[in-house]
Amino acid sequence: MLGIVFSEFTQMVEDKFSMDTLDDILDASQNPHDGSYTAVGVYEHKELIDLVVALSEKTGVPADDLVQAFGEHMLARFNELYPMFFQDQDDMFKFLEGIEKRIHSEVRKLYPSAELPMIDWECPEPNIMQLHYKSGRPFAALALGLAKGCIAHFNESCEITMEGSPTDAIITLKRVPR
Ligand code: HEM
Repeated sequence: MLGIVFSEFTQMVEDKFSMDTLDDILDASQNPHDGSYTAVGVYEHKELIDLVVALSEKTGVPADDLVQAFGEHMLARFNELYPMFFQDQDDMFKFLEGIEKRIHSEVRKLYPSAELPMIDWECPEPNIMQLHYKSGRPFAALALGLAKGCIAHFNESCEITMEGSPTDAIITLKRVPR
């Protein structure tokens, strides 16, 4: 997993909780890098899971909720870090259709060692989109949070649900009247 994910996570913990909380979870999870990550370095994804588990234990917030909140935060950060993927995008379903071919494929060119999930899509009805997340890493809750971040970014009124497992899940987005 790229260092950028870790530096965004540790920054979020500092901002939403505190510097002390971050220090505590780095200690509790015996973090091998003491919280210092370089953006293009590659680290074990297990290290992120250990940090999330430690944060969950410290704050009492369920781990899945923390990962989801991190996903929402990441989408807003991606908008700041990679504005080119958001320019000229005014339709959320079109944006989501392009995760695999338009976005992650470019990410792979920028960072050849990026470990990316497979995200297929289908629209069984015009107002419903299903994203199929499949990965060697158990981050379905992160995908759900990123999709929620998209709803906020595009200012959509959408119901969102997920079923499946942490490595293989279907996220359903349904546009509903406000
Ligand atoms: C402009 C938007 C996006 C950018 C720039 C982007 C970029 C990235 C980057 C850099 C990583 C880290 C790869 C690594 O650690 O090696 C990543 C991972 C991931 N991305 Fe995206 N992404 C975007 C949108 C999305 C969206 C909308 C979703 C899902 C709805 C998504 C799902 C994921 C997931 C779940 C991972 C974690 C790795 C895994 O599960 O295997 N991404 N993405």
